Amino acid sequence: MEKHYTVIGDPIEHSLSPGMHNAGYEALGINAEYQRFRVEPRYLAEAVEGLCALGFSGWNVTLPHKEKIISLLDRLTPEARRAGAVNTVKIHEGQRIGHNTDGNGFVRSVERKLDGFKGKKAVLLGAGGASKGIAFALAEQGMKVHILNRTPEKAEALVQAIHNEGGTATSGVFAPGAWLENVDLLVQTTSAGLHGEPFPFSIQGITEQALVVDIIFNPAETDFLLEAKNLGCLTLNGLGMLLYQGALAWEFWFGGQAPVEVMRQALEEQLLRRMIHK
Ligand SMILES: NC(=O)c1ccc[n+]([C@@H]2O[C@H](COP(=O)([O-])OP(=O)(O)OC[C@H]3O[C@@H](n4cnc5c(N)ncnc54)[C@H](OP(=O)(O)O)[C@@H]3O)[C@@H](O)[C@H]2O)c1
Repeated sequence: MEKHYTVIGDPIEHSLSPGMHNAGYEALGINAEYQRFRVEPRYLAEAVEGLCALGFSGWNVTLPHKEKIISLLDRLTPEARRAGAVNTVKIHEGQRIGHNTDGNGFVRSVERKLDGFKGKKAVLLGAGGASKGIAFALAEQGMKVHILNRTPEKAEALVQAIHNEGGTATSGVFAPGAWLENVDLLVQTTSAGLHGEPFPFSIQGITEQALVVDIIFNPAETDFLLEAKNLGCLTLNGLGMLLYQGALAWEFWFGGQAPVEVMRQALEEQLLRRMIHK
C-alpha cells in the first residue's frame, strides 16, 4: 500500500523537501509519496485532522506551525519537548508523535568538520526556533554554548532552559566582543541575510580555526559567510542541516538509514534549477 507524507507550512511553495524525499523513495524502491501543502495558521487544527483522516503516515512541519502544532499531538520525543518545537510528526498505532530533527540534523552536518564536540566552545547568534534546537543538541554533545540575541531576554531564557537540562550555556550582548576569541564553532541562526541584507555587525577578530556556519542556504553564501571566509575560517551554509534534518525524519519514519547522498543530490539539483530560472 502506498504511504503518504507531506510538509505543511505557510508559505510552502519553495520547500525543497518533496524533491529530496521523493528522490530517496525512488532510489530505494519505497512505495511512498511526499507532497507539500500550504496550511494557513487559522486552519492548522483542521489540517492535522484531515491528514489523519486521509491516512498520512507522517509529515514535516515548517514555519509558522512548529510550536502551535504541539497542542494537537499525543506525545513528544525528548528532542521536541526540549526544543519546544516539532518539525516531524509520525502516526504510530493511531498516536500522533511529535519529534524534532533540526538540532541533531545540524550536529550531523558539522561532525565531520569538527574534531569532536566535548568541552569545545560554540557561539550561537540568534535565539529563535532553529537556534533552540541547535543549542540543546550542541549542549547535549558536551559543548560550552554561548548565545547572543538581538532580544537578550530570549537568549537568557534559552540559557536557563539548557541549565535545567544539565547543559553548559551562557548569554551575552548581540555585538562583537571578547567572545570572538577561542571559538571552535560559530553558528549564525538569525534570519538576517535571508534576503541579501548584511549581518548587523562584523566578526573581525574571530579565531581563524573556527568553523563558521550560516544556517541560511539560499543565498548559498550570505555576506556573513563571505566575511568569515575572507577572515580565513572554514565555512558551511545551511544545506547540510536541511539535508540531515530530512534524513533523520526519514529514519524516524522508516527506520534504517536514509539514502543521504541521493537526497543531497536532489537538493543540489533543485537549488541549481532555481538559480538558472531566477
Ligand atoms: N538550514 C536549515 O535547515 C534551517 C532550518 C530552520 C531555519 N533555518 C533558517 O534559520 C533562520 C531562522 O529561522 P527560525 O525558525 O529560528 O526563525 P525565528 O524563530 O523567527 O527566529 C528568528 C531569529 O532571528 C533574529 N533576527 C531576525 N532578524 C534579525 C535582524 N535583522 N538582526 C538580528 N537578529 C535578527 C531574531 O531575533 P529576535 O529574537 O531579536 O527577534 C531571532 O533570534 C531563517 O533564516 C531560516 O531560513 C534554516
